[in-house]
Amino acid sequence: MFGLGVGIDLGTSSVMIYVEGKGIVLTEPSVIACDKTEDGKMIAVGESAYRMIGRNPDSISVIRPLKDGVVSDFPMTEKMLQHYIQKICGNRIFKPHVIVCMPSSVTNLEKRTILDVVTASGAGMACLIEEPLAAAIGAGIDIHHPYGTMIVDMGGGTTDIAVITMGSIAISGSVRIAGNEFDEAIMRYVKTYKNVTIGERTAEEIKKQIGCAYVREEEVAMIAKGKNYITGMPESFEISSTEVYEAISDLLDDLLEAVRSILEVTPPELVGDIATQGIVLTGGGALLYGMDTMMQKRTGIRARMADDPLHCVVKGTGVALKNMNVLADNGYIFKSREEIIGIKD
Ligand SMILES: Nc1ncnc2c1ncn2[C@@H]1O[C@H](COP(=O)(O)OP(=O)(O)O)[C@@H](O)[C@H]1O
Ligand SMILES: [Mg+2]
Repeated sequence: MFGLGVGIDLGTSSVMIYVEGKGIVLTEPSVIACDKTEDGKMIAVGESAYRMIGRNPDSISVIRPLKDGVVSDFPMTEKMLQHYIQKICGNRIFKPHVIVCMPSSVTNLEKRTILDVVTASGAGMACLIEEPLAAAIGAGIDIHHPYGTMIVDMGGGTTDIAVITMGSIAISGSVRIAGNEFDEAIMRYVKTYKNVTIGERTAEEIKKQIGCAYVREEEVAMIAKGKNYITGMPESFEISSTEVYEAISDLLDDLLEAVRSILEVTPPELVGDIATQGIVLTGGGALLYGMDTMMQKRTGIRARMADDPLHCVVKGTGVALKNMNVLADNGYIFKSREEIIGIKD
């Protein structure tokens, strides 16, 4: 195929882009800042918009358009994606062909519209691949065998749980229990037990630094800053890893329940394969301390974190670009703009 191959992981927390022959060329938070007055003119996108979260004046709205795994603000998602695609594709003579991955909870109409946006923004052809499938490929799993593998991809807004066999998804489910929910639980905990309100970025920092999905043998603690919610004054407080665990433990129970419910509806042969092969954890959530141990102890099935879990999906799109002939057997094919929207421009 002429033109460059490009892979995009349109995640709820971040957008990552892979370019054939170059590797991962872009990683930016899925955030966009717009002017509320001037027809929603884009002011900043990615990292610079992320820095504005919680610090924006009234006239500017800072939006995470994919926050909960649904395209909550479609026009903003379009603007953000358009910006990145144009940055990568520019005005090339041969238009690139692009693989896009999206949270599996996104509706069919939204998927079609995303393909529409991709092709309207400079791509010649576009193809959509489910995130867990790309995650499995990126985790180095040979997905084409008639052999079941379970992927648990924990992102910011959603956790996708999928059983993959023979190059496609046999069973899958998506729950809104992921990184953002953990952050919110930490915010609630700090408010209730320490009388301090903190922003989502501070909560995320606490989670990454000392959070755990399995109680740490050696407790660790850190100092964080917030605002006393009674006096309104700045306040520093100490929080321990066990406290963070307490804050998120109900969510961990729910997450486990979701994994169990997928296993329940998985045919026995595939469950047998999963028992042998183990569960593979991808996405940023897999980095939470003790996530693999927790999953393993509570399901009784071996669980392991994929290498470089944050980049599995985008790396998977890179591998997929080279193996489109194999994926085509399962209906993953590049479509032109005419084929996607059904009409010529
Ligand atoms: N070291 C870490 N420990 C715990 N959570 C982490 C860590 N690093 C990233 N995360 C969380 O992972 C989530 C982002 O994961 P990612 O796979 O990039 O999401 P998405 O695919 O939805 O964009 C965020 O909620 C972030 O806080
Ligand atoms: Mg993801």
